[in-house]
Amino acid sequence: MFRNPAAPGESSASSHGADPASDIQQILFTEEQITRRVGDLAAAITRDYAGRAPLFVSVLKGAVFFLTDLTRALRLPVEIDFMAITSYGSARAQSGVVRLIKDLDVEITGRDVVLVEDIIDTGLTAGYLLRMLQARSPASLRICTLLDRPYRRILETLDIAYRGFEVPDRFLVGYGLDYRERYRHLPFIGVLKNEILAAEPPRDVAAAGGSV
Ligand code: IMP
Ligand code: MG
Repeated sequence: MFRNPAAPGESSASSHGADPASDIQQILFTEEQITRRVGDLAAAITRDYAGRAPLFVSVLKGAVFFLTDLTRALRLPVEIDFMAITSYGSARAQSGVVRLIKDLDVEITGRDVVLVEDIIDTGLTAGYLLRMLQARSPASLRICTLLDRPYRRILETLDIAYRGFEVPDRFLVGYGLDYRERYRHLPFIGVLKNEILAAEPPRDVAAAGGSV
C-alpha cells in the first residue's frame, strides 16, 4: 500500500515523501473498522428516518469522506449539501469564531437536517453551525459525527445523536482529517508521528484561510 514512486523532483527521504502512510505512528481505525462502523451508523439512521427524506449537510473538506460513505450506506431518499467555513485561531486552539465562506445551496426550512462532522473536539465549530442552521427553522436537526473527543469539549451542551468512535487526545489524520491539508486521502485513521508535528507546527488557520 502507498508504494508509489516519488513525484519528479520530490525527495522520498522527506517526511512528506512518496509514502504518506510512513508518517503515521499508529493506526487507530483500519479501513475495515471504519466501513463497519459507518454501516452501523447508517443502519441506525435508516431506522430512525424511515418514511422521511433527510438532508445531510457537511462542512468542506474534512467531513466529505465520511458523508459520501455514510449516505451510500443509507436506505433512504437523501439529499446532500455543503458549507465552507474559515475558523479563526490556530488549528488546535480554535476560538469558535467561524466565518461562513460558502452557504448551503438549498433552503432547510421544514426539512429534517443531519449535520455530518468528521470530528468534534471543542465542539465550538459544531455549536456555531447548529445555531446558524436552527435559526432557519428546520423540522429537525441532529448531529452525526464519525469521531468524538469529549475530553477537550468546551461546549458541554452539545447533543450528539450519532457517533462513530470516541478518540484519545492525539492529533489524528486520514479519512478526511488533515494536517496542513495533507493525509486526507489515507483510507485509515492514524496518529501522526511526533517529529512531523514538531517540524511544522499546525499553521494559523485564519492566516492561511484554511478550511476545517
Ligand atoms: P472543534 O470546533 O474544536 O470541535 O473543531 C473541530 C475541527 O477541528 C474538525 O472539523 C477538524 O477540522 C479539526 N480537528 C480537530 N481535531 C483534529 C485532529 O485530530 N486532526 C485533524 N483535524 C482536527
Ligand atoms: Mg482540518
